[in-house]
Amino acid sequence: MPEAWWRDAVIYQVYPRSFADGNGDGVGDLAGLRARLPYLAGLGVDALWLNPWYPSPMADGGYDVADYRDVAPEFGTLADAEAFVAEAHAAGLRIILDVVPNHASDRTAWFREALAAGPGSRERARFWFRPGRGDRGAEPPNDWRSIFGGPAWTRVPDGEWYLHLFAPEQPDFNWNSRDVVRDFHDVLRFWYDRGVDGVRIDSAALLVKDPDAEPDGLDPYTDRDGVHEIYRGWRKITDGYPGRMLVGEVWLPDQERFARYLRPDEMHTAFNFDFLNCAWEPHALRKVIETTLATHGPIGAPPTWVLANHDVVRPVTRYGRADTSFDLQDRRLGAHTDRALGVRRARAAALLALALPGSAYIYQGEELGLPEVEDLPDDLRQDPIWHRSGRTDPGRDGCRVPLPWSGDEPPFGFGGDPWLPQPAEWKALTVEAQDADPGSMLALYRTALALRRDHLGDGTLRWRPAPEDVLAFTRETGLTCVVNLGEGPFPLPDGEVLLSSGEPPDGELPPDTAVWLLESTATAFTGGGNA
Ligand code: NOJ
Ligand code: CA
Repeated sequence: MPEAWWRDAVIYQVYPRSFADGNGDGVGDLAGLRARLPYLAGLGVDALWLNPWYPSPMADGGYDVADYRDVAPEFGTLADAEAFVAEAHAAGLRIILDVVPNHASDRTAWFREALAAGPGSRERARFWFRPGRGDRGAEPPNDWRSIFGGPAWTRVPDGEWYLHLFAPEQPDFNWNSRDVVRDFHDVLRFWYDRGVDGVRIDSAALLVKDPDAEPDGLDPYTDRDGVHEIYRGWRKITDGYPGRMLVGEVWLPDQERFARYLRPDEMHTAFNFDFLNCAWEPHALRKVIETTLATHGPIGAPPTWVLANHDVVRPVTRYGRADTSFDLQDRRLGAHTDRALGVRRARAAALLALALPGSAYIYQGEELGLPEVEDLPDDLRQDPIWHRSGRTDPGRDGCRVPLPWSGDEPPFGFGGDPWLPQPAEWKALTVEAQDADPGSMLALYRTALALRRDHLGDGTLRWRPAPEDVLAFTRETGLTCVVNLGEGPFPLPDGEVLLSSGEPPDGELPPDTAVWLLESTATAFTGGGNA
């Protein structure tokens, strides 16, 4: 049986537009990414997840896919994509693609055909077209709101309305249509045939919906029972390609419902958003970790540990605020931030996430400690959330600013003039600057990833007795991770400190600091007292 590599993989998320620009037009692309593969291999990650690279009008950063079997010209060609997959494999990196099954672009061939074919047609049945309510159908079919703000229905010239849970440029597929089911099976095979190792499933809990449903106490479009049949079909296809995996974007507060997506005949893994959302607070973190392990253990699915992605406020910013939790509906941009504190905590959080059993995700720039860019000029913001919220929610552009690679001024080796401007202070955060500094965030991630290969991975943990504001656990290999979330120093047991997120501790772990250590066999972990 091929190796279940995803059970303990560290997966690096590449946001292609902002990673590296090979042709100097200011937008990241495959040429830039291919040139930087040695950086990613050297970082010590196992796989890359790429945000959508398909042709797209970019109404939602590529999550409005116009052709699921091609690559956007601004990123390269299909041949470039195939060469990229081969080169990544040669560098020891697996590739996970983003597949977007909830909605298409309104420029997709099917949606244009649906508009042309008119009411009642098979073409329209691939989407959710409905007559309106009220006088002459001038009101939308129901009162659903778009997740990006505004109504979830848009009217077309012949009077019908179509559903879009996101932007109007993203019409929702109707998964009752066999055409839709079959087409996505074909899309999976298309990319697996090109060597892709896994698929990230966008908005995975939203696919089944019932706009005509009477209110029955169920959410009319989130986590409907019928969604599982879809993933059973996807799993069958995936199982036909040994060594390939599915990872779901499943935002669900209920762990029991979440676990259903990870049954043996559905997805292999799903993102742990409870961990990502969790405040930097010892009780909350311990509870999330325990719940995660208790949810995944019985179904045999590996947990994932996620601190960031292209939709959320960057950790060094979030952890420097008075409220360190994350809420997708309320990004709280502009809240006062103690940057030094945020960096200290983000470093400790990285050691925590990478020590836990299972697989972990790193969002590009997290390894550089990039902050959220909160002062982008309004007229450059592209996130549909910004526009659809009536310019009240600044949206997600601040975590999507192109990476700084080298040099003293923008574009910091990114390529051309970046599509979102980089702050001048990023001079100190370039890969080049951090390469030269053993105390940098980049150095911390590199060392942690190297140590993780020998000491950490899938499995279990044993909690150690410790004061309430200290998290301490030991893994199968004997590595102990201690995180001090309290206000005073915590006395460490004797042993070899392999890595510390802060100043190398001299017997005492300072607040907001984590260590990985191998205890001297003679010494018991006393749990000390955090006075
Ligand atoms: C989740 C993606 O992560 C996000 O970026 C996107 O806007 C929505 N799904 C809609 O596709
Ligand atoms: Ca480019």
